Amino acid sequence: MSLTHRFPDGFQWGTATSAYQIEGAVDADGRGASIWDTFCRAPGRVLGGDTGDVACDHYHRLEGDLDLMSRLGIQTYRFSVAWPRVIPNGRGPVSEAGLDFYRRLVDGLLERGIAPLVTLFHWDLPQALDDEGGWLSRDTVDAYVDYAALVAEALGDRVPSFTTFNEPWCSAFLGYASGDHAPGHTDAGEAFRVAHHLNLAHARAVSALRCVLPSSAAISLTLNVHQVYPASDDPADRRATEHVDLISNRIFLDPALGHGYPDALVDTTRTITDWSFVEAGDIGALHAPIDGLGINYYTSALIADPASPAGRQAHLAWPGTTKAVSLAPDGELTGIGWRITPGALTDLLRRIAADAPTMPLTIHENGAAYDVAVIDGLVDDTVRIRYLDAHLRALHDAITAGVDVRGYMLWSFLDNFEWAWGYSQRFGIVHVDFDTLARTPKASADWYAGVIAANGL
Ligand code: GCO
Repeated sequence: MSLTHRFPDGFQWGTATSAYQIEGAVDADGRGASIWDTFCRAPGRVLGGDTGDVACDHYHRLEGDLDLMSRLGIQTYRFSVAWPRVIPNGRGPVSEAGLDFYRRLVDGLLERGIAPLVTLFHWDLPQALDDEGGWLSRDTVDAYVDYAALVAEALGDRVPSFTTFNEPWCSAFLGYASGDHAPGHTDAGEAFRVAHHLNLAHARAVSALRCVLPSSAAISLTLNVHQVYPASDDPADRRATEHVDLISNRIFLDPALGHGYPDALVDTTRTITDWSFVEAGDIGALHAPIDGLGINYYTSALIADPASPAGRQAHLAWPGTTKAVSLAPDGELTGIGWRITPGALTDLLRRIAADAPTMPLTIHENGAAYDVAVIDGLVDDTVRIRYLDAHLRALHDAITAGVDVRGYMLWSFLDNFEWAWGYSQRFGIVHVDFDTLARTPKASADWYAGVIAANGL
């Protein structure tokens, strides 16, 4: 077969999920409640009143799901550990039954020749910790570091890679500013405080993990760096775009890369927060070298000043600020209504490589929601294949331009619980019938198996 786009030798092809989105079994084996269990029960928070109670019932269908993954030739599987499953109250007594589930998962992957990549936090904070202030409290930072060390002790002899946090921007700004995610607060000042606590928790956990894990372990942070462009040449729109870059990207990237918080970030947020939650010694504590960055990319945004000609058009509020808006998406959209802009992935990767030239990057998520029905046992999701193909070409362009990208984790393996969207958005390459829980690999699954086998397009 002749390839037009060959990926580097050793490039890791994988797929990604997260615990609350697929596991179900929320009461099994002593699991504690998470903030998402609570949020789903609050009226009007999640579309259709959907919950993760059953989700894909992956907890009980582990072996079958792993077999399916193995048949597709998946090389790396990125999954998350549910903190309330292993420490039901967030701190204190450990659930061995909960840890056993992840031991079985890791063993099952290794038996099938699939490398595990563990996300330690994918948004399902134990409810007991939220009752005491959640990420607004520095005590949660301590609890997280202990939890991370516990998981590393339990799984670290068999798991080569850990990532500390998935998209801390979402936890901070969707959880505390826009209120779209659990715990559903709407206070921009809180979002900045939470962002700082997440950065601290990340850095302190990296140090704790280094003490527990073998020296070969790779530790990363997973960021949804927003690829944002000014909506026009108007200087006000350019300034708004820089503002968004500071409050959404550099607030996480700069500390993770050892640069602390940029002065421009503190300046641009003076009306929102006084940063008094940054205590003596914190800035130094934020510096903990990592072995790689995980990048999640789905779409890009056009940013405007709310008062500029572009900003006065149809627009969406940007979480955590009144100084910038994003234009309502137009052009070709995925099923969830996100713009399809593969070239922005190339731009994004080149930007990060310019900021951090020696940092290995891995795509930890990329994919698209499309609702395509099962007809005669087949799901012809050519639209998804087109999206994935275009994004892999864009990724290849970045690699050709010299960006060090080591792997690609497709989001997602299974259709699953898409947070505030409930089950209305299907990101999987495997269809899940949420009545019968039957799995049906889509055309995109076969296509992806081909990409993996060929190591290219
Ligand atoms: C994300 C989350 C996923 C989402 C996906 C699609 O990191 O945003 O990891 O849980 O399902 O991004 O929105």
